[in-house]
Amino acid sequence: MKIHICFFFEQASNCNLKYFQLWLLVLVSTGMGTFSSSESAAPIQIHGEIGGNVTFPCSVDNQRTVRLFYFQRGSTFVNGYHAFKDMPHDTKPWENTEVNRSENMVHMYRLNTSHSGDYQCHIQYSDTKNTVTIDIRLSVTANYSKPTVITSCEDGGLSCLVTCASHGGYPQTKMKFDVNVNRNSSSRMWRVLNNSEVPDPANKMFNSSSTAQFNCSNGELKFLSCSVGEIISDTFSVCNHVHNTVTPYSPYVIVAVVVCLMVGVLIVMGVWLRHKYKKRQTGAVEGRVNTCTEEVTFLNELTRKETS
Ligand SMILES: *[C@@H]1O[C@H](CO)[C@@H](O)[C@H](O)[C@H]1NC(C)=O
Ligand SMILES: *[C@@H]1O[C@H](CO)[C@@H](O)[C@H](O)[C@H]1NC(C)=O
Ligand SMILES: *[C@@H]1O[C@H](CO)[C@@H](O)[C@H](O)[C@H]1NC(C)=O
Ligand SMILES: *[C@@H]1O[C@H](CO)[C@@H](O)[C@H](O)[C@H]1NC(C)=O
Ligand SMILES: *[C@@H]1O[C@H](CO)[C@@H](O)[C@H](O)[C@H]1NC(C)=O
Ligand SMILES: *[C@@H]1O[C@H](CO)[C@@H](O)[C@H](O)[C@H]1NC(C)=O
Ligand SMILES: *[C@@H]1O[C@H](CO)[C@@H](O)[C@H](O)[C@H]1NC(C)=O
Ligand SMILES: *[C@@H]1O[C@H](CO)[C@@H](O)[C@H](O)[C@H]1NC(C)=O
Repeated sequence: MKIHICFFFEQASNCNLKYFQLWLLVLVSTGMGTFSSSESAAPIQIHGEIGGNVTFPCSVDNQRTVRLFYFQRGSTFVNGYHAFKDMPHDTKPWENTEVNRSENMVHMYRLNTSHSGDYQCHIQYSDTKNTVTIDIRLSVTANYSKPTVITSCEDGGLSCLVTCASHGGYPQTKMKFDVNVNRNSSSRMWRVLNNSEVPDPANKMFNSSSTAQFNCSNGELKFLSCSVGEIISDTFSVCNHVHNTVTPYSPYVIVAVVVCLMVGVLIVMGVWLRHKYKKRQTGAVEGRVNTCTEEVTFLNELTRKETS
């Protein structure tokens, strides 16, 4: 039956799209049948980046004459040729693909997320009706940006919220916190509040972020980081007072500045008083006693005047 359809296609003088589609379906079905030999059971894995290009390795025996080379995604025709026939006019190859007949390779350009998937090269040589099928799995990815870390501390610095965020990646990947603390005490020290992976409606790339809360009762936590897949943030620390004052003009900053100023004034006054005290000490101790006596005498005179 299958051979009959193929034969019919070969003979058809006006090969229209209907028969062409039949052809594709036959090719797909023979891919699993005895007529065809699949090069390998597991698909060949290839990888491309969004906006980049890939070459599908449809290994072809260059010693033999290729009658037919169809590159498909399931039953969807992507690109290819028939050596002895024109393709039906309705068959449009994907415009971001190109088949180089001399090397029998398929190039795909301007990759985007929707190009990820399983593809097949169907190859038929002129000396046989058997079809060789090569399965190739394309995964398209985009690198997430290096996560940014934003820390904000509340309750007078008793607990801190840390948000890590990264954008423009594919596929969807969770933001993770790498907190190197003892498992037993970790639940008391920190917890993840939320995670979000938001796809961009236009290009389907994801923004990934997560917020965690840290308990500052146990002091500073150092050498923390966030990661989205392989991309890791700079290390950071929480619950250290330097970090708590990162936001300018926060109440903590103002209090700290005022306290610093007061301490400064006190130090200056202390130094001045000490200097003065020393100066007086070097002068006659008598003199000081005299001034005191003078004041007392003056007071006595005042009270005498008031009472009289
Ligand atoms: C395909 O991408 C590679 C790097 O990813 C680049 O060097 C090459 O020029 C690209 N080829 C074409 C035809 O765009
Ligand atoms: C096909 O590939 C060969 C070898 O890489 C190259 O020389 C030739 O220009 C390519 N042809 C087309 C049409 O791209
Ligand atoms: C994406 O990350 C990989 C692995 O780190 C790197 O080889 C590649 O150049 C990066 N691509 C871009 C577009 O930065
Ligand atoms: C964690 O707690 C378990 C029992 O609750 C204990 O056996 C283990 O030694 C503790 N680990 C550390 C690192 O303290
Ligand atoms: C914060 O840590 C302290 C000391 O380990 C603990 O007593 C307290 O319950 C923790 N607070 C929270 C909200 O987990
Ligand atoms: C995650 O939780 C923080 C703190 O409650 C909040 O500010 C932020 O909006 C939340 N993010 C998402 C995506 O829900
Ligand atoms: C993703 O993040 C980028 C940079 O922060 C922003 O411009 C864009 O609007 C975000 N997209 C979505 C869907 O939230
Ligand atoms: C990917 O590119 C194809 C054209 O090559 C286009 O039809 C499709 O809409 C694009 N998909 C996305 C998600 O951008």
